[in-house]
Amino acid sequence: MRLLPQLFANNRAWAAQQTRGDPQFFERLCAIQRPDHLWIGCADSRVPANEIVGLAPGELFVHRNVANIVRPDDRNCLSVVQYAVDVLRISHIIVCGHYRCGGIQAAFGPATTEPLEGWIAHVRAVRAAHAAELDALPDDAARWQRLCELNVTAQVRIVCGLAPVVQAWERGQPLAVHGWIYDLKDGLLRDLEVSVGTAPA
Ligand code: CO
Repeated sequence: MRLLPQLFANNRAWAAQQTRGDPQFFERLCAIQRPDHLWIGCADSRVPANEIVGLAPGELFVHRNVANIVRPDDRNCLSVVQYAVDVLRISHIIVCGHYRCGGIQAAFGPATTEPLEGWIAHVRAVRAAHAAELDALPDDAARWQRLCELNVTAQVRIVCGLAPVVQAWERGQPLAVHGWIYDLKDGLLRDLEVSVGTAPA
């Protein structure tokens, strides 16, 4: 018995849809992967990277985790960045957070269990670094929203210090790092205007 039959049915319909107007769609994708953007986003199911920015398979290299965190000791994320910059030669790295992020909210709450707590500790550190600004805000909703933004900015800074990124800039490879935030309320992205580096638009 095949499990989750609806998902397989969806998949067959999707594959048929892709080739309806473009019979070579999958053949082309097999031959080459040449995305120009790396997306580092939250694992949240409401933030589907490709769909939000209208990019097709093959056009967006994606890494997602809880609260879109970039830890310099995370081999998973670092391998994605290294491959994206050194092999795929992408021009843009986008760190995209989102409002109402549960991972960010957890950083305001009591300690949870491992390994999640160790992961959220990174967001707690961002919160602690901006305690004065956050405490001055009128309510918890405003603090939560602001920490979603501050967390993106902090991760952009970390990306800018990663070896593959620094080395790309040293050899003159066009590469820009951006910080964006996605609003679940209206489906719109906002540029936090913390971009670093230069790359063709
Ligand atoms: Co989230």
